[in-house]
Amino acid sequence: MRTVPALQTSVTAALRAAFGALLIGVAGLAAAHGDVTPQVVDTKGLPSLGSEWRAENPYRGHAEAIKIGASAYNQNCARCHGLEAISGGVAPDLRKMDNECVSLRVEARKKACVNEVDQYYASVVRKGRVRNGAVYMPPFDGILNQEATWAIKAYLETRRERPL
Ligand code: HEC
Repeated sequence: MRTVPALQTSVTAALRAAFGALLIGVAGLAAAHGDVTPQVVDTKGLPSLGSEWRAENPYRGHAEAIKIGASAYNQNCARCHGLEAISGGVAPDLRKMDNECVSLRVEARKKACVNEVDQYYASVVRKGRVRNGAVYMPPFDGILNQEATWAIKAYLETRRERPL
């Protein structure tokens, strides 16, 4: 992971130059580099989830999932979203993902809000973000299984900017 800050600097520079399309080039560069090729994650230590995607994170607060998720995040997401989920401005800061749920006072509404964010999260991670042919974020379907995807969310929940 030593090369991550350098990569981030170059990505930020590209953004500053306001050439959105350069992102593809940068992502391609990153993918070509050994350290940041998407990594398959070993999730054998986690309760298996089957093939049907869950509507909410089944691993919330699960210690082993958080550990595996932290490592999976560093291998697959940190190069764009920042080490320890602290964004350098290239990609959204994932510590903020549940922020909109924090101010909800009724517990049931807060829970529904977090579940909605879960669904949004899983959908973005699986499909990536591609607009007008530009790959802002690569799809992780087929690279990360359901277990790894939710383990990363469980880790991100420990990094929330505003704890629930
Ligand atoms: C090549 C860089 C890159 C990688 C790698 C990457 N992302 Fe992203 N991600 C982005 C960018 C850029 C956006 C914003 C895209 C847009 O503008 O639509 C984004 C958006 C998101 C969003 C939506 C956030 C929001 O506030 O709407 C989530 C969730 C997300 N990424 C999670 C992840 C996870 C989890 C991983 C690792 C498995 C990951 N990303 C890997 C670049 C990346």
